[in-house]
Amino acid sequence: MNTLGMNILDMDILDMDITNTSLLQRIKDLEKENRILHKQLQRSHSDRVQVENKYARDGYLLQQIIRDLEGSKSVLEQRGVALELASHDIQTIQSKLIESEKMSALGVLVAEVAHEINNPVGFIYGNIEYLERYINKIIELVHLYKDQYNPPLLIIQDKIESIELDFLLRDIPKVLQSMWIGAERILEIVKSLRNFSRLDESEYRAVDLHEGLDSTLMILHSKLEGDPTRPQIEVIKNYGMLPAVECYSGKLNQVFMNILGNAIDALVEQYDLIPDRPSRITIETKPQGENVHITISDSGGGIPEAVQSRLFDPFFTTKPVGKGTGLGLSISYQIIAENHNGKLSCHSTIGHGTTFTIVIPISQADALS
Ligand SMILES: Nc1ncnc2c1ncn2[C@@H]1O[C@H](COP(=O)(O)OP(=O)(O)OP(=O)(O)O)[C@@H](O)[C@H]1O
Ligand SMILES: [Mg+2]
Repeated sequence: MNTLGMNILDMDILDMDITNTSLLQRIKDLEKENRILHKQLQRSHSDRVQVENKYARDGYLLQQIIRDLEGSKSVLEQRGVALELASHDIQTIQSKLIESEKMSALGVLVAEVAHEINNPVGFIYGNIEYLERYINKIIELVHLYKDQYNPPLLIIQDKIESIELDFLLRDIPKVLQSMWIGAERILEIVKSLRNFSRLDESEYRAVDLHEGLDSTLMILHSKLEGDPTRPQIEVIKNYGMLPAVECYSGKLNQVFMNILGNAIDALVEQYDLIPDRPSRITIETKPQGENVHITISDSGGGIPEAVQSRLFDPFFTTKPVGKGTGLGLSISYQIIAENHNGKLSCHSTIGHGTTFTIVIPISQADALS
C-alpha cells in the first residue's frame, strides 16, 4: 500500500505512531540525561564531601598549629620574664660588687689615713697639757721677776718692750686654748674616720647610732660648710633616747652617708634655682616598740613622682655623668632590708623637700624569731 492510497484515518494513525515514537525517544533521552545528571550530582556531592573533609582536616591542623604557637608564645614569655629576673639579679650582684670593692678600697684608705694621723696627733694632744703647765710656771716666774726687780734694768726694760711682753702674757693662754680645741677636733675626726671605716665586721654589734650619724656628719663637714657661692647647710638634730642597736655599724654609716650626701646635692641644686629657700637637713631618731626610726629630711626641691618609683633601682641617677653612679640608694636599700631586716622608704613633695625613713629592729635576734 502506498501512501497516496492511504485514507485520513491511516494518516492520523501513522502520525500518532510517529509522535509516540519520537516522544518515547525523547523520554529515553531525558531519562539518559537524568541519569547522567544524577551521576554528576552524585560525583559533585562526593567531591563536596571530600572538600569539606579536607577543610575540616585543614581547620583542625590550623587550630593545632595555633595552639602550638600559643604554647610556644607563653613559653617565650616565661623565658622573657626569667631573663629579665636574671638580668636584674646580675645588675644587683654587679652593683654589690662595685660598691663593696669601692667601699673596701675606701675603707682601707680611710683606716690607713686615720691610723697615720692618730699617732702624731696623740703626741700633740698629750704634750699640750705639759706645755701649758710649763708655760704657766714660766709666766709665774716672769711675774715674780717683774715684782722683785722693779724697775728693771734698762736692757731688760728694752727687751720687755721690744717683745711686747704684756701682749704675749695675755695671748699665751688663748694660743694654748686654740691648740687644745684644734687637737681635740683632730682626735674627733680620727675617731670618726675609724668608726666610719669599720666595714669588715662580720657580726652584729650593739652600738650607739648617734655616734655613727655624728661621724658621718663630721666626714661631710666640708660639704655642709658654706662657700662664697652658697650658704652653710643647717643641720638640726632631734635625737631621741635610743638604746644600743644591734647592727653592722660600718654598713649603716654607709647608708647615712648616701642619704645625707643626696640631701646635700639636692640642697645645693635647689640653692642654684631658688636661693632664698632655707638649706636645712633635719635628723630625727626615736625608739618605737621593737624598732628604732631614723628620719633624714631635707628642704630641697623634692623628687618628681616618675623618679620616686625608680629611686631604689640600681644605676638609676638623674645626676650628670661622672657625678652619680646611681648606686647609693639601691645599696642602702639592700643594707637596710637584707642585712638588717628593716625598711627604707621615701616620702617627697615637690617644692617642700624629701624625707627618708629608716626602720630597723633594736635586736636582730628578736627580729629573726
Ligand atoms: N634627697 C633627694 N632629693 C632629690 N632627689 C633625690 C634625693 N635623694 C635621691 N634623689 C634622686 O634619686 C636618684 C638616685 O639616688 P642614688 O643615691 O641612688 O644615686 P646618685 O646619688 O644619683 O648616685 P650615687 O651612686 O653617687 O649615690 C638621684 O640621682 C636623685 O635624682
Ligand atoms: Mg647618691
